[in-house]
Amino acid sequence: MSEFESKVVLVTGASSGIGAATAKGFSKHGALLSLTGRNEERLAQVADECKKLGAKDVLEVVGDVSKQDDMEKIIKETADKFGEMHVLVNNAGCSEWTLIENFELDKFDRCFNVNVRAVLYLTKLALPYLEKSKGCVVNVSSIASNMYCLPLNIIYTTSKAACDHLTKAAAFELAKNGIRVNAVNPGTVETDILLKVGISKEQNDEIFNQQANLHPLNERNVEVEEVVDAILFLASDKATMITGSCLKVDGGRGLTGQ
Ligand SMILES: NC(=O)c1ccc[n+]([C@@H]2O[C@H](COP(=O)([O-])OP(=O)(O)OC[C@H]3O[C@@H](n4cnc5c(N)ncnc54)[C@H](OP(=O)(O)O)[C@@H]3O)[C@@H](O)[C@H]2O)c1
Repeated sequence: MSEFESKVVLVTGASSGIGAATAKGFSKHGALLSLTGRNEERLAQVADECKKLGAKDVLEVVGDVSKQDDMEKIIKETADKFGEMHVLVNNAGCSEWTLIENFELDKFDRCFNVNVRAVLYLTKLALPYLEKSKGCVVNVSSIASNMYCLPLNIIYTTSKAACDHLTKAAAFELAKNGIRVNAVNPGTVETDILLKVGISKEQNDEIFNQQANLHPLNERNVEVEEVVDAILFLASDKATMITGSCLKVDGGRGLTGQ
């Protein structure tokens, strides 16, 4: 029997990419899942796949984590359904592209509300449940947090730097509650995240092709399952003495400074 069997795992941003794959990863271990995202149709598709893969039960909560009411609804509905929580995966995230000369406050707020504010507020809301279960939080940060400084990416990279620091500060504060807080910092993973910034499919593919070479190990981008394996590890009993870590899953890209 897996240690995640019948454990309650809340995954934000579960409607696509790394979050969807994480939900599927926990499903294979028989977890009870609370999945959230804004896209109802895609969330339902992921939930169906999770049930087929072995999830014991799946709750879908449609919500926008940049909104306080929605975050409170996500935690309340999870608690109402399952009564407990063991793992919170703060994966929902978005990118914003801008040069400083074109900087707009709205872009900053959109990105920071999801990548930073929601991570902290959801952790606070989950605290009573995680304290009771001696559970853990895994935040999905990025190697963009402190490894490279790309023009256009100033808002996103700064938000992920904040996510790393938040992870460490929360780990220190919540150690007394028996709650572990860690992050994974993936290199480039081929998801829809850049398409959502508004670039064309052609540009998107070109960027992914260029970025592949920036990962010295095997000169390829990171597979989504490789990130999921790291999340499962940090959430597992194999990591009982690990807290405040930001685990790079980047094929050595962080060593290159690009
Ligand atoms: N792809 C990469 O190369 C890469 C590398 C390092 C780190 N990351 C991080 O990995 C995480 C997942 O990204 P991804 O690559 O898997 O991208 P993705 O496919 O675009 O997934 C992002 C997820 O976040 C959700 N989300 C975004 N804004 C939201 C909001 N306001 N409220 C609720 N949910 C919201 C999306 O839900 P809806 O679509 O339903 O709104 C979606 O499920 C992010 O934190 C990202 O920064 C990605």
